[in-house]
Amino acid sequence: MSEEKIIDGKKISLMIKEEIKKDVLKLKEKGIIPTLAVVIVGENPASKVYVRNKKKGCEEVGINSLSYELKEETTEEELLNLVKELNEREDVNGILVQLPLPKHIDENKVILSINPEKDVDCFHPYNVGLVSTGNEGFLPCTPAGIIELIKRSGFEIAGKNCVVIGRSNIVGKPAAMLLLKENGTVTVCHSKTKNLSEICKTADIIVVATGKRNTLTPDMIKEGVIIIDVGMNRDENNKLCGDVDFNGCYPLAKAITPVPGGVGPMTIAMLLNNCIIKLRKFL
Ligand code: GUN
Repeated sequence: MSEEKIIDGKKISLMIKEEIKKDVLKLKEKGIIPTLAVVIVGENPASKVYVRNKKKGCEEVGINSLSYELKEETTEEELLNLVKELNEREDVNGILVQLPLPKHIDENKVILSINPEKDVDCFHPYNVGLVSTGNEGFLPCTPAGIIELIKRSGFEIAGKNCVVIGRSNIVGKPAAMLLLKENGTVTVCHSKTKNLSEICKTADIIVVATGKRNTLTPDMIKEGVIIIDVGMNRDENNKLCGDVDFNGCYPLAKAITPVPGGVGPMTIAMLLNNCIIKLRKFL
């Protein structure tokens, strides 16, 4: 397999983390210590891994992280009180509440309670609105990582037919907004889309974020397409795999992200970037 077709998210994320590290050092020289509060409620094993990796990322670039590991039985009121306290703390400039939350807690209410100025996930409707209107500010982490992967691999988005499969609030919808901001011609497909194959065949760039294995297969794509796989699934041998039939699509693609080592590391790099994005004005 020739390596140059594979978009190396690990390598690109390391480059971005090096850039962030330099900025964090400069901020610290000015007496500013970027600090992220990470909140997790309950014992979801996948969430625990994500949170561990986010904290590790902070450590790598010199961002201070505060950890709040709350019991499954935590009430909505207790969580909202913690968010309020973190909103008010001047030494905390980023707040991340890992999702999903236990069923007895209203996720929307929690997201709305986070000060939009500290919303490093870019989940608050105020920040979602800013992204939709093309303003500066926080960037949705996974979608921003996707844009960086494409651009830093030397590919143009402007004027290209971009197809996003999946319409989640975390990936599909904001990815469509960022591709649009880059002047792509964007089509969003989802589980009710009737002619998915036909639409995908028109695509120069395909972003797949459905959470389902083999969403994209070689019969659905044209030669020379760029494929970004956001999926994180397990195959029948319990091996990590994405939403794309990688081996099938690889020969046709101009470029393709692997799973693992594609989009995943970029999400964390962009989260770390959000932790200092509003502090860069002090540099
Ligand atoms: N759950 C799955 N992805 C994410 C994410 O990017 N941020 C948070 N807070 N929770 C998540």
